[in-house]
Amino acid sequence: MRKPVPVIGAVCLLSALLLSASCSRRGPIRVVSPDGTIVLSFDLVDGVPTYGVDVDGSPFINPSALGMVASEGGPDLAGNFTFSRIGRYSTDEHWTMPWGENKEHYDHCNGAVITLDGKDGVMLRLRFRCYDDGIAFRYEYDAPVKDSIKIMDELTRFNLSQQGTLYSIPASFDTYELLYRTTSISDVPDAQTPATFRTLGGFYGSIHEANLTDFPEMTLRRVDSLSFIAALAPYPDGVKAYVGGHFLSPWRTVQIGRDAPSLVNSSLILNLNDPCKMEDTGWIRPLKYVGVWWGMHLGINSWTEDSRHGATTESAMRYIDFAADNNIDGVLFEGWNKGWETWGSGKSAFDFCLSAGDFDMEKVTRYAKERNVQYIIHYETGGNIPNFERQLDTALRWATAHGIHALKTGYAGGINDGYNHHGQYMVRHYRRVVRKCAEYGLMLDVHEPIKATGIRRTYPVMMTREGARGMEWNAWSEGNPPEHQTILPFTRLLGGPMDYTPGTFDILYKGIVGNPDLKVWNGRPSTECRVNTTLAKQIADWVVLYSPMQMASDLIENYDHPAFQFFRDYDADIDSSRMLQGEIGDYVVVERRAGEKFFLGAVTDENARTLTQSLDFLPEGPFTATIYADGPDADWLTNPTSYTITKRTVTRDDTLSLVLAAGGGQAVTFIPEK
Ligand code: NOJ
Ligand code: CA
Repeated sequence: MRKPVPVIGAVCLLSALLLSASCSRRGPIRVVSPDGTIVLSFDLVDGVPTYGVDVDGSPFINPSALGMVASEGGPDLAGNFTFSRIGRYSTDEHWTMPWGENKEHYDHCNGAVITLDGKDGVMLRLRFRCYDDGIAFRYEYDAPVKDSIKIMDELTRFNLSQQGTLYSIPASFDTYELLYRTTSISDVPDAQTPATFRTLGGFYGSIHEANLTDFPEMTLRRVDSLSFIAALAPYPDGVKAYVGGHFLSPWRTVQIGRDAPSLVNSSLILNLNDPCKMEDTGWIRPLKYVGVWWGMHLGINSWTEDSRHGATTESAMRYIDFAADNNIDGVLFEGWNKGWETWGSGKSAFDFCLSAGDFDMEKVTRYAKERNVQYIIHYETGGNIPNFERQLDTALRWATAHGIHALKTGYAGGINDGYNHHGQYMVRHYRRVVRKCAEYGLMLDVHEPIKATGIRRTYPVMMTREGARGMEWNAWSEGNPPEHQTILPFTRLLGGPMDYTPGTFDILYKGIVGNPDLKVWNGRPSTECRVNTTLAKQIADWVVLYSPMQMASDLIENYDHPAFQFFRDYDADIDSSRMLQGEIGDYVVVERRAGEKFFLGAVTDENARTLTQSLDFLPEGPFTATIYADGPDADWLTNPTSYTITKRTVTRDDTLSLVLAAGGGQAVTFIPEK
């Protein structure tokens, strides 16, 4: 078994220069990226700490204030600081993940720890890091308090120095399942992170956070034309966070690139998380899965135990057989347990160890084992955290006793007692579940999660999560527009993998027309909905939208289709990846390697386009390329299911012409010819 994550380079923490204290220090302190192109400057202005960022000698972030605000009577965390000392260090470390879109990472930065003395014994250490592809900083406060400090606000500003285009969703403290807006930077009142922008000068940036462990999430509120301030998700009483006298904030991050793909081809967020804390990660394996799932979203099945119940023993056996026969590792069963009739009542009361009457857990898990298929257990909480936490240990122990090592959780519904989904109460809960999964041995896929900030490095059981509008929205709403998948990789997915669940082949839901059992369960009837892509783009999404648990989302009946061969051949255990070309909201081309196989995915927005792509990412030797493309007459709106499959021999000297229909895509497998 693979034991602790091996470090293949040496950590080079050169805390060498500890400059002596100087309270009268004047002028900014600079931290420069290893390649010299990015300069982070720190200064104290009238006792208030500030930072700014220059790229290639020009301002990128103008001087911006830093600080926090405690409740009345609490310590002054916002000002009255004097400079005490600075320690500088560098990192130069190669490290690996047991899985990931890239298993190897390089952490190379220059850092500084600036210590400031505040009023009444307050001390603030500002930890800055400057990478070649961005900057980060975090707060470490010490305050002499007896009990906890109530954090009422964070004062971090991001004063952008140039106008540009912003790609963002609104800042909601309760959901990320919102449509992306493409606006001027100065045209939004607020934004969720990752908030990605392209400046008029042609630079790319993305504001986010890393290592969100025990704090509310940070969103952005615009306070001036190009200026944002951190806005933390509150508790119901308005307090943002309860912290001790010594506390560390998450990292505040700004990725910086000269082109859009460089935001994606970056390890910055993972580098800012703690190394793996698990001793044994050898059992954690990326997987492909199908599931008793889409039928419920379409309204032909139900989660509850009625005549339309989806998760029956009979359907489970069929899905297990399908997985086993099609080189698919796992099956998800939603609605297998008791309590679904309470979902949405405001007092969900799921039982996490009790099967529905028509679902024979013993038989299903035994059969899954026999056929070497992983059972992915589903725990919808409905937002009732006390109910889930009360059962958590028992449920996880019970699941693993049944040979189950993968769990999908859900938090669809208002959280108990008025808590926000993204506040500190929930951040703590989500983290507790991650730790428990690490302890009991379950891989985790979270729906309605907290945003991804790189925790998977520390706990590699944290495989994937939703946290954006996924496939389900196509079943019961106007759906995700064709540009959606060309924005996600540059925004939501900068935080980490997403369980988007691509792969719906019955694009127009022809298979359910006239079904007398169809029910409208969440918005509009699914017969009035559709998937807003071509078929080839659904296949390409399996490559473009990285998830170490990658689902083929459709009803298995719809996979009696030649193009499903792509999913049979796909390997979710990716070794390395690269975005080859892309523009936010326009198009994306990605290549991924798994062992000796390579996969390419290309998607476009509502515009047809032809992209020229060199194959020089392949090693020497001929490969059989199987190309799943849009048919010549394909168009997401008028003819979405037209496709072609062609095979040819290629080498790294070849170039592919990727002809993408409007709302279309293309996927290619490259298998070495022996
Ligand atoms: C919302 C999740 O995103 C979806 O995947 C799941 O089917 C439902 N909640 C029910 O748990
Ligand atoms: Ca959801």
